[in-house]
Amino acid sequence: MTESAIQIIHQNIHQRQSIGQLVEPAPSTEQLELAFQAALTAPDHHRLKPTRFVVISGEQRAAFGEVLAKALADLSETDPAQLERVKQHPFRAPLLILALTQLQDHPKVPHFEQILSTGAAVQNLLLSLQAQGFSTMWRSGAVVESNWLKQHLGLQPRDLISGIIYVGTAAKVIAPRADIESKEFVKVWQA
Ligand SMILES: Cc1cc2nc3c(=O)[nH]c(=O)nc-3n(C[C@H](O)[C@H](O)[C@H](O)COP(=O)(O)O)c2cc1C
Repeated sequence: MTESAIQIIHQNIHQRQSIGQLVEPAPSTEQLELAFQAALTAPDHHRLKPTRFVVISGEQRAAFGEVLAKALADLSETDPAQLERVKQHPFRAPLLILALTQLQDHPKVPHFEQILSTGAAVQNLLLSLQAQGFSTMWRSGAVVESNWLKQHLGLQPRDLISGIIYVGTAAKVIAPRADIESKEFVKVWQA
């Protein structure tokens, strides 16, 4: 890889920032496919492929909002204002991607490794979308705990809704990420 290619890759990583206000355009089918290809190369012990994605866009967002309200009700939420608010959540972006972890039992691959694999897949997804000019925000919220929602998505109660990724174009420019002092987080181990 050339020096300039290395620089570009690192700029893309460093410039990624979560953006809450997302508008059209959303990625095309081809652009999404590129991002899913990147996501599905994430490290994955024994190649169990525990990660699944579900795309929700356009008019489907209203129906998904209704599903989110049912999920919140499943978690014993009764406040009508909260139930109405969650119906609007899918409209925070033109496109949503649910990242799911379908856990498998394997003698050498504990569940936490499979969840980490989904995390790596999501980061690849975010970086690919960012490289293609889009912005994202990885969210969760109480609804991810709903067994009703898991069942609705074809998951078992033990499986995970690991993220609701909001995808679109940044509505406004935000300040660049502050420099990170790696010394605070990195130690060189010595015996
Ligand atoms: C698994 C996961 C779930 C998250 N859920 C939420 C959320 O529900 N709401 C939220 O504001 N941020 C959430 N975040 C944090 C944002 O995605 C983001 O990382 C954080 O705001 C820091 O911004 P940055 O990505 O620009 O560094 C979540 C992050 C992760 C990894």
